[in-house]
Amino acid sequence: MSTLTAHFDVPIGPDSPRTCRKAVVGVLIVWGYADDAWAEDVAVVVSELVTNAVQHGSGSVVLGLEAYGNQVIVSVADGSSVLPRRRDPDSRGGRGLMLVEALTHRWHIEEHEGGKRVRAELRPYPDLDDPALRVGTVR
Ligand SMILES: Nc1ncnc2c1ncn2[C@@H]1O[C@H](COP(=O)(O)OP(=O)(O)OP(=O)(O)O)[C@@H](O)[C@H]1O
Ligand SMILES: [Mg+2]
Repeated sequence: MSTLTAHFDVPIGPDSPRTCRKAVVGVLIVWGYADDAWAEDVAVVVSELVTNAVQHGSGSVVLGLEAYGNQVIVSVADGSSVLPRRRDPDSRGGRGLMLVEALTHRWHIEEHEGGKRVRAELRPYPDLDDPALRVGTVR
């Protein structure tokens, strides 16, 4: 079993969250992670992290995806060193990181090239067969 990886530069704009949701779900399907309910949670996590990077972060935004067996990690990096912080929800928001926490196994922030990267480890993929094994290698 090997780790599958994908990274891409996020086009910045009002469509960033939607574009990233579609891209991530598409790549995961190609890799064999096609469970609908699980993918819906992944899409929410991607949406919230990308929205945060675009709204509160700065510089270029890079989205990463790593899959190893049932474990899948989504990461979103931006160029601002200001760190995301959970805050009490109010009429202007504060629900994004709450959702990320609820829908992931765990998440953390790490330094990344002068800015930071938020890494979210998703709930284990529910299918007992290892999806990554379905990604073939050329003989
Ligand atoms: N990428 C980021 N860079 C800098 N600050 C961030 C980043 N992501 C989140 N934050 C900070 O963490 C706070 C909490 O984020 P959270 O997503 O929970 O709420 P929100 O973005 O303010 O509102 P909502 O997501 O509900 O629309 C933000 O208000 C912001 O101050
Ligand atoms: Mg937010």
